[in-house]
Amino acid sequence: MIKVAQPSVGKEEVKAVSEVVLSGRYISAAKVKEFEDKFADYLGVGHAVAVNSGTAALHIALAVLGIGPGDEVIVPPLTFFSTVAAVLHQNAIPVFADIDLHGYCMNPHDIEQKISKMTKVIIPVHLYGNSADMNPIMKIARKYNLEVIEDASQAHGTEYRGKKVGSIGDIGAFSFFATKHMTTGEGGMFVTNNKEWADLARMVRSHGMSDRDTHDYLGYNYRMNEMAAAMGIVQLRKLDEFNRKRIENSLYLLKQIDRNDIPWLKAPGLKKHIRHTFFWCPVLIDEKKLGMTTRELIETLRKKGIETRHRYRNPLYKQKILLKKSAYPKEFPFNSKHYKKKIDYNKVYLRNAEKVAGKIIGLPNHTGLSKAELDYIVKVLTKIDSVRKVSAD
Ligand SMILES: Cc1ncc(COP(=O)(O)O)c(C=O)c1O
Repeated sequence: MIKVAQPSVGKEEVKAVSEVVLSGRYISAAKVKEFEDKFADYLGVGHAVAVNSGTAALHIALAVLGIGPGDEVIVPPLTFFSTVAAVLHQNAIPVFADIDLHGYCMNPHDIEQKISKMTKVIIPVHLYGNSADMNPIMKIARKYNLEVIEDASQAHGTEYRGKKVGSIGDIGAFSFFATKHMTTGEGGMFVTNNKEWADLARMVRSHGMSDRDTHDYLGYNYRMNEMAAAMGIVQLRKLDEFNRKRIENSLYLLKQIDRNDIPWLKAPGLKKHIRHTFFWCPVLIDEKKLGMTTRELIETLRKKGIETRHRYRNPLYKQKILLKKSAYPKEFPFNSKHYKKKIDYNKVYLRNAEKVAGKIIGLPNHTGLSKAELDYIVKVLTKIDSVRKVSAD
């Protein structure tokens, strides 16, 4: 089976982690500090705060901005649910803005339509390794006095007009989950140029403590441990090389697909001013032209030894938690006395998201793939008609 994702980890990571294990020092010590400093340098930001997941980084970002009941946060409908969950964790209301069909990130025009008096934050997600259109997004944010949290959990090293994503908005959030461009097993990073927010983020990640016995804020245990940080330092050193390979593999696949003119398969739009790092190599399936559903295609590819990704199958406003307002007991926070509007997610319909949800698959593009494997993927895609016949027989 050609795996769709595979962490690239070697002896250096094993050595770095083993040294920490044997040192007996596991929490809030030199490795976390070193990883934070190096990650901040890599992005070109003032401060980085290491946490134990991307979700924690997003949650802390909303917490330090003081987001709470009655506030609205604009999010995209195609992303991992934790972009939305983090908003609910702060008892605020997620409001969905549509995507563009070119690169599947949030459409700035639709963001502006969704701003109300209660809007406080916009969370653009740099989906699949692409970048959201940050210049217009920042312009809208400044016009309406909103903060921007970039969810860069799928875009480590992606660049927008020469700047690394995560460093453009007010706060950036990264995930180091096992399948990401670089990994610490589980982990995340909060980044900002604002020292006050960074200091507050450090407190919130560690029980809101200003000292061992004083809890100044409602905090959490979101700390990254020293083993994860030691692994992160090594992975960060390799990140540019990982990305070079991911991009090379993805562009090779897309070029071969284009050359072979596969009419049911649409490559993502690429822009000159964006360095797409291809967390996924996403392709859009035209089910009519193909004559089978995306699920059937995925199964057909699996039978031929090719694993693919299939997300996000539905726009996130169709998740039960939102349709039934069941995030917390008694419909909180949607019925909070601070929230002056009524929101009904059953009535939300975003045309572009509806058009592509469930029809995007990710082809294998990880750093461990050989040219022969990439060629095999293309060969199977070009011959999908005969493959289909064989599987039906
Ligand atoms: C866009 C996006 N946001 C947030 C997250 C959450 O990261 P984590 O799994 O580290 O909590 C992910 C992880 O898959 C993600 O893809």
